Amino acid sequence: SKGTYDNYMLKEIDEQPAVLRRISEHYYHNEQASISSQLLTALQQADRLYIVAAGTSYHAGLVGKQLFEDLADVPVEVQLASEFGHHLPKLSAKPFFVFLSQSGETADSRQVLDKVRQLDCPTLTVTNVANSTLAREADFALPLCAGPEIAVASTKAYVAQIAVQAVIAQSLGIQKGLNAAKKIDIDNQLSLAANAIQTIVDQKDYLKQLTHDYFYNQIAAFFIGRGNGYATALEAALKLKEVSYIHAEGFAAGELKHGTIALIEEQTPVVAFVLEKSTAAHTRSNVKEVLSRGAHALIISKKDLSNANDQIVLADIDERLMPLVAIVPAQLFAYYAAVEHGNDVDQPRNLAKSVTVE
Ligand code: F6R
Repeated sequence: SKGTYDNYMLKEIDEQPAVLRRISEHYYHNEQASISSQLLTALQQADRLYIVAAGTSYHAGLVGKQLFEDLADVPVEVQLASEFGHHLPKLSAKPFFVFLSQSGETADSRQVLDKVRQLDCPTLTVTNVANSTLAREADFALPLCAGPEIAVASTKAYVAQIAVQAVIAQSLGIQKGLNAAKKIDIDNQLSLAANAIQTIVDQKDYLKQLTHDYFYNQIAAFFIGRGNGYATALEAALKLKEVSYIHAEGFAAGELKHGTIALIEEQTPVVAFVLEKSTAAHTRSNVKEVLSRGAHALIISKKDLSNANDQIVLADIDERLMPLVAIVPAQLFAYYAAVEHGNDVDQPRNLAKSVTVE
């Protein structure tokens, strides 16, 4: 039930620290994560992972790609189910398919699963609904442990998808004996991320005010970032669009100047995710470019950057896990903008919780 909440979306945003703790409890018993050796062996035999998903789950896959490539040294392609199903690319010699789906019922993803099973490719579904179609029909299934997600806009399932991919990627890396995997303690990082998210959800009055200052009565908004900040920007834009109905775009920060910067006007909101050290200076110079065209710019980063006007500073956890935390202020922007515009936050227009048509 909603308990003391007016709607499910805010309740589910607030549950995210608990979801990360539940994932830790489910997957970590001693030191090692409890991923079956059959699954790890199948993953280890693959020369490439294909992550297939739609919408928010696709954005989680983009974050997962970096985790698998860094921690398990395996090349990854992330594909939109609706495209992939109709235009199967040339596959690698030993592909392994990972389906990310909150509901486990998304028709676009089911269609791809049917196709790749006919090709005899090994498959894993990572889902929040244990007995769902995608879970039943794949060779392997792992739970997200997010608890029922009722609001149409996915929040806690997104965070859970990133966390569970981190668990799998690190387990695979350890199975392969890789240092990158041995050097990171995912269990501990999930606990740090839970605390960092708690700090954000405890600042609701500030985030509500920022939402008003940046988004009220705006018709367009931009989210920019590089690397996993870019993936975060895509997800932040989707959240804002679907519940507040403000037109939003997620952009690779360096790509704005190749055309889209023409849309920046006086007071256009631009939110920049600065999550990686290696590109921080570049993204900050992109922020300067939009500021000089009149944008109203806000930086979400893990470091206090003096001289930036508005800033949300996140707790400093492993860079590769920063998307777990960085999305949360943007979820709250979407939520408060929707409430301020009088929208039905849990049931946005034109949308259903699970999309069972292609
Ligand atoms: C956005 C949203 C959708 C879903 C997408 C895939 O908030 O909820 O974009 O992420 O329809 O759904 P699942 O994960 O159930 O396959």
